[in-house]
Amino acid sequence: MASFIIEGGKRLEGEVVISGSKNASLPIIAASILSGKKTTLYNVPDIHDTQVTIKILKYLGCKVKKTNGKIEIDTRYIKRNDVPDYLMREMRSTVILAGALIGRFKDASFSYPGGCDIGARPIDLHLKALRELGVDIQEEHGYIKCSADKIVGGNIHLDFPSVGATENAMLAAVCAEGFTTITNAAREPEIVDLGNFLNCMGAKVRGMGGSVIKIEGVSKLHGAEYTIMPDRIVAATYLAASAITGGEICLKNVNPRDMGAMLHVLLDMGVQLRIEKDKIIQKAPKKLESIHIVRTMPYPGFPTDIQSPFMALATVARGTSVFIENIFENRFQHIDELTRMGADIKVEGRSAVVRGVNALQGANVVARELRGGAALVVAALAANGTTTISGTEFIDRGYENIEKYLLECGAKIRRE
Ligand code: EPZ
Repeated sequence: MASFIIEGGKRLEGEVVISGSKNASLPIIAASILSGKKTTLYNVPDIHDTQVTIKILKYLGCKVKKTNGKIEIDTRYIKRNDVPDYLMREMRSTVILAGALIGRFKDASFSYPGGCDIGARPIDLHLKALRELGVDIQEEHGYIKCSADKIVGGNIHLDFPSVGATENAMLAAVCAEGFTTITNAAREPEIVDLGNFLNCMGAKVRGMGGSVIKIEGVSKLHGAEYTIMPDRIVAATYLAASAITGGEICLKNVNPRDMGAMLHVLLDMGVQLRIEKDKIIQKAPKKLESIHIVRTMPYPGFPTDIQSPFMALATVARGTSVFIENIFENRFQHIDELTRMGADIKVEGRSAVVRGVNALQGANVVARELRGGAALVVAALAANGTTTISGTEFIDRGYENIEKYLLECGAKIRRE
């Protein structure tokens, strides 16, 4: 496993241009299957998860051409609609291909996606939504076979506003016969981006961003050109990286309107923010204030994906912070590693009580999943001494060239 070696204590100052959103790119790349035409996407981050999704599209028979952040996808010649186990297991969100394959071919088979270290990641809500659209689903030997004579619009109610289940329902419904309503839909900005992309292809999706999405099925879709939204979690991670060092940072190509809950927490911790249309300038105090209590919630609540990087901030803040993780059942794995660096954190079920310490100490730590790994990078930037973080492959899943941007802001970081 490769490692990051970080020498802490350097004040981070500078500019970072934020990449396109991983969690918008994945469903939008999958959605290109629906048109059977050519799609051009801009601002796609070049990270492991988008690379895997493109690998699967190529396996299915798509032609894909990548030049920097631009991706040209030709889905005219798809010759299969099954995703093999070894590809499904490469990441959790491969399940998003299901809705696209079913939406186009009314027939798809795939294995249960790999769970991951943050939780079991069931797909019962995805399957319930597809059944509501008339899809017959047979599960055998870990494989899921979906088929439908035709896909008929229906009324889908999600017991939980699942991001992935909302996306799969949208993908399967845009070419269904008739109208589909999705109630208790996820409201994340990535859902809005997917809906906007589908409408660019000629779909008729309304209400995304709210809890009720209405879709009028159309007979076919055409190719499209589309620019992926900025990654709000990557943006907040860089704000945390600078804030923990008492630094000053300017983020470009961001959408502050997607980041309300996160920005409010940073303000409560004592940073100063200047917000412009697609820019955030943050100036942090030498010592941050604790966060009284943070609950992770579906959007527009505080995002679960930023829980661990912000917990790293809280470890050296003045006072005690409480984090309650309501979305995933196993998203505290970074805590053992932060403790090795001198953090004072007590876990009670889904709650973590973080008592701020004067400073963290550099140590050898292990990244076990994407955002927990990002939290260790944030912590290491402020720790006294050198920290070695092994498991960079987890961090590379969601952060493009993280060491390049941190180096440009004055961090002492190298990859070995
Ligand atoms: C998406 O995952 C994101 N991934 C996650 O980001 C993010 O943390 C999550 O949404 C919540 O915002 C992508 O978009 C690729 P969910 P997803 O379905 O769709 C339960 C990152 O770090 N659930 O909203 O898998 C589930 O167990 C990743 O970038 C069911 O019970 O999340 C969880 O407790 C991590 N049954 C909750 O819902 C289902 O069928 C939220 O899951 C589906 C989900």
